[in-house]
Amino acid sequence: MLDRPLHLPCGAVLKNRIAKAAMSDDLGDGRGGPTDAQRRLYGLWADGGAALSLVGEVQIGPWAPENYGNLILEPLQNEENFRALSAAATANDTHFWAQLGHAGALAVPVSGPAKAPSALDVSGIHAVEMTAEEIEALPAAYAQAAVNARTVGFTGVEVHAAHGFLLNQFLSPLFNRRTDRWGGSPERRARLLIDIIAAVRASVGPDFPVAVKINATDQLAGGMEAPEALDLVAMIDRTEIDLIDISGGAYFPGAAPASDGTRSGPYFVDFARSARARTGKPLMTAGGFKRRAEAERALSSGAVDMVGLARPLALNPALPEIWLKKSGEDPVFPRFSSTPPGGVTAWYTERLRRLGSDGTADDAGTIEEALVQVEHRKAANAILWQEHFRTGS
Ligand SMILES: Cc1cc2nc3c(=O)[nH]c(=O)nc-3n(C[C@H](O)[C@H](O)[C@H](O)COP(=O)(O)O)c2cc1C
Repeated sequence: MLDRPLHLPCGAVLKNRIAKAAMSDDLGDGRGGPTDAQRRLYGLWADGGAALSLVGEVQIGPWAPENYGNLILEPLQNEENFRALSAAATANDTHFWAQLGHAGALAVPVSGPAKAPSALDVSGIHAVEMTAEEIEALPAAYAQAAVNARTVGFTGVEVHAAHGFLLNQFLSPLFNRRTDRWGGSPERRARLLIDIIAAVRASVGPDFPVAVKINATDQLAGGMEAPEALDLVAMIDRTEIDLIDISGGAYFPGAAPASDGTRSGPYFVDFARSARARTGKPLMTAGGFKRRAEAERALSSGAVDMVGLARPLALNPALPEIWLKKSGEDPVFPRFSSTPPGGVTAWYTERLRRLGSDGTADDAGTIEEALVQVEHRKAANAILWQEHFRTGS
């Protein structure tokens, strides 16, 4: 199954069933523009044989980034660098999609407080409630970002509604306590996402891939759980979406993000099997695939149409080429003696930086070193981002 093409509803064809799942690589230039390191990194993934390469956290605007190394699609700056990135990333007939992001309450500071569906003041996270006007402006903002993505050579977009960021906050009964038309019932909490998908589709036309990433479970007490997520799948089924990318977890303090988990997977295939009964749209899961046999089984059992790999492709960008051969070997995963919160994700982020710098990453150091590196880069990029977008220079 791994080498079979996948035909998407919009008419686009993915050449096989392996996707490089979205990873926030933290390699942007600190002002939302792409760098040579990203061009090299996405070139490696294109050469490595994945059918689809998703860039994590490409911001729809500068005001609510997940990190200061994110790319920004509106305002569109450094068009030439974006085009160079797309050219490298689409080599070898690879699809290259931008994951459209807005971090909501989880945004790193830019200017003023973070905005979220409802006010929040917990574990160092402060956010104020979005006004109706601000919410009404979001579908057009996502749509403009999608148009800009297409302009600079991305071949598709994914609306990010997972992992605790803005649209996941709207979906979650824990974070969305609104009593207006965007809060209350599951349908009302999903309204913004459904409107955004419609606006994005209308803006890019019928032939451009539009995907959505959702949580099967927020893995947070009081958050969205599988039964409601299955109802959400049924609501998304009625949109013109091309692919539903299923994940889980959240980046709230104390919660469990999928990128930090070390338990064996794959994590969300059983949910995908249940989701099949609620939608005819192509399904993808990312999370915990470590062995070729697991990927093959998830596909051949009919649970999923596409397998997403994040950390395995940070370990070896050429893994798809290897797995596309029946004899394909499995990657060797690092064993960490301790895993402080965020440490595993930081270690893989550092590995991406090393891959981007010279194409090799035989060693990414220890988790502790990676955490220091990631914090150091964040502090340096914070200065650039805040200076740039505060002054609008
Ligand atoms: C360094 C790193 C950055 C990530 N950034 C994103 C992101 O920007 N958007 C997203 O949806 N998922 C992100 N993830 C999560 C992955 O897409 C994936 O869901 C998760 O790592 C589980 O898959 P895996 O077991 O194949 O790594 C990230 C993961 C890692 C390791």
